Amino acid sequence: RAADDVRRRFGRLDVLINNAAIHYDTGSRALQADWTVIRKAFETNVFGAWRVAAAFAPLLGAGGHGRLVHVSSEGGSLASMGAGAPAYSTSKATLNALTRVLAAELRGSGVLVNAICPGWVATDMGGPGGRPVAQGAAGIVWAATLPDDGPTGGFFRDGKGLPW
Ligand SMILES: NC(=O)c1ccc[n+]([C@@H]2O[C@H](COP(=O)([O-])OP(=O)(O)OC[C@H]3O[C@@H](n4cnc5c(N)ncnc54)[C@H](OP(=O)(O)O)[C@@H]3O)[C@@H](O)[C@H]2O)c1
Repeated sequence: RAADDVRRRFGRLDVLINNAAIHYDTGSRALQADWTVIRKAFETNVFGAWRVAAAFAPLLGAGGHGRLVHVSSEGGSLASMGAGAPAYSTSKATLNALTRVLAAELRGSGVLVNAICPGWVATDMGGPGGRPVAQGAAGIVWAATLPDDGPTGGFFRDGKGLPW
């Protein structure tokens, strides 16, 4: 319905930021999985982002310069992944995989697709002690405003590449 509304009113979408995520389950272990938590995490962190991206992709392509940003986390990096946070880390790894697939499928359309880690940010999820929200958001704004020859299918924090 949101995509239909944007299509009717504007005919295109310049930027889509998939930011919503839940269940930073640091106290949990994969071998004692709470399947309700795992399923809910995937619904929001992966399937939500996926469905919204699919619904809006034609509108992102319509302007010829669309930017699709997945707010991910280094917690989803396979390179540094260890024990714990099973719902969060595996769902963010899947979001990163989706970033690669969508970037490849949209290559040539003018739409750039990237995954961004905002760092540890002092939000409700991050809690006190993290960096200010504006600092975490800056890397997301960077990805949302890339020039046409900017990167696609990448994983970044503060505009610098992160290992997958
Ligand atoms: N904070 C950190 O240190 C940190 C580190 C790395 C990555 N990240 C990533 O940064 C992004 C933002 O996180 P945050 O720290 O701002 O988390 P947050 O404080 O918990 O906020 C999460 C936001 O997502 C929304 N949301 C959750 N489920 C939703 C759903 N099904 N549909 C629509 N909106 C939904 C929430 O809306 P309501 O308030 O209405 O529920 C809330 O506005 C996430 O992708 C997170 O994984 C955060």
